[in-house]
Amino acid sequence: MSAMENNFTSIKGRKILLGVTGGIAAFKAASLASLLIKSGAEVRVMMTAAAREFISARTFQELTGQPVSTEMFGEVSNYRVEHIALAKFAELVIIAPATANFLAKAAHGIADDLLTTTILATTAPIMVAPSMNDRMLANAATQENLETLRRRGFEIIEPDSGHLACGTSGKGRLPEPEELAAQINLHFERLKARKLEGKKIIVTAGGTIEPIDPVRYIGNRSSGKMGFAIAEAAHRHGAKVLLVTAPSVLKNPYGVEVVRVETALEMHDAVLKEYETCDGVIMSAAVADYRAKEIADEKIKKTDETLTIELEKNPDILFELGQKKDKQILVGFAAETSNLEAYAAAKMKQKNLDMIVANDVTIAGAGFNADTNMVTIITRGSMAEYFPLMPKTELAELIIKRFEKILMGRQ
Ligand code: C5P
Repeated sequence: MSAMENNFTSIKGRKILLGVTGGIAAFKAASLASLLIKSGAEVRVMMTAAAREFISARTFQELTGQPVSTEMFGEVSNYRVEHIALAKFAELVIIAPATANFLAKAAHGIADDLLTTTILATTAPIMVAPSMNDRMLANAATQENLETLRRRGFEIIEPDSGHLACGTSGKGRLPEPEELAAQINLHFERLKARKLEGKKIIVTAGGTIEPIDPVRYIGNRSSGKMGFAIAEAAHRHGAKVLLVTAPSVLKNPYGVEVVRVETALEMHDAVLKEYETCDGVIMSAAVADYRAKEIADEKIKKTDETLTIELEKNPDILFELGQKKDKQILVGFAAETSNLEAYAAAKMKQKNLDMIVANDVTIAGAGFNADTNMVTIITRGSMAEYFPLMPKTELAELIIKRFEKILMGRQ
C-alpha cells in the first residue's frame, strides 16, 4: 500500500471535497478518504442522508480529523454559509459513489440538500464515480444525465464491471479506492501540464452584422463554429478565455466568459477594453469591412427602382491590435480565393501578427458554416504548414498548440 501511496504525488497539499451518496459502495469512500489524507491532501467530506444509512459520519470524521457536513439546516449557527464555504474550499470535488438519484439531481440543477447545493455553488472541477445496479446504469435516463454532466465539463469515472451487491454481475461497480486516487492524481497532473494556466486569451467569433435600418442589416455567412471551438480548446488548456462573438446560434462554451456583440464597432470596443491585460488574441471573427454611413430610423420603403446605400470603413481591429502590441500574441485568419500563401504572409506582416491561419474558401468543406476546414498555418519565422481537411474542433487544438509554442518560446 505505501508504495502505491507514494505514487500519488500530485495530490499532496490539494484541497479535496469528497461527496458521499447513498450506495452500498459508500464504505469504499472511507478507504478513499484515508488514501487521500495519507497522500497529503486536505479532505472535507459531505454526506447525503442516504449515505449515512450505509456508513457513519463519525468514520469520516475520524479519518479526516474534520467535521463532516451532512445537513443543510443542521447547525443554525453556520448553515447559511456552509455550502458556499465548502464550495470555495474545494480545488476538486469528487462524488464517490454517485448514485443514479444524485446524477439525476445534478444534471437538472436540483439543490435539495447540502451536497447538491454545494455542487451548484462551486466553480471547482467535479469528478463523479457512478456506482449502481447495471440496469440502472444502462437506463436511458441515467445515460442521458451522464451525457449532460459530461457536456458541462464533469469528469465521469467509468464504473467497473463485476459482481454487484444486488447479486448480479455487470457494469456498475465503484472502482477500487486506489484506482479512484490514481484518477484524482492524474487530474492534478494534467492541471500542472496545462500550458495556458494563468493566461488570459481573447477569442473572437462569428460574423458581425451592420444595420441599415431597424429591420435590415449587412451580414456574412460565418457561423462562429471555428471561434467557439478555439475558445473551448483554450479553456481546456487552462486559459481564462473571453469569447467576443458576433451573433451565433451556438451555446456558450463551458467555463468561458462570453460577450455577445453585433457590429464591428461593438466588437472593437469589447476587445480593446480587455486587450492590455491579455496574453493573446485569436481573431477568427469575420468582421465586416464596411458599415452603413447612415442607419435609417424607419424601415426603408421600396419606392425607387434602385437604392444606394453609402458605406464607410470599419476599423480593422486586428491591425489596431498589431499597432498597440506589447507582449500579446496575435493570431489572425485569412479567407482567400487565390494565392493563399502569398496573401496570408503579406497580411501577417501588415497586421504585425505572430501566426495566421489561411483557408481557401472556394474549397468544399472549408471555411464558412462548415464543420470542417482545410488550412495553411504560417507562424512567424517558420515554414508554412499545410493541413488536410479536418473537423474544426481538431483544428482548434492545433492552433492552440502552436499558440502555446510561441508563448513558451518567449518565457
Ligand atoms: O484583412 P482581412 O479582412 O482579410 O483580415 C482578416 C483578419 O483580420 C481576420 O483575423 C479578421 O478577424 C480580422 N479583421 C479585423 N477587423 C476587420 C476586418 C478583419 O480584425 N475590420
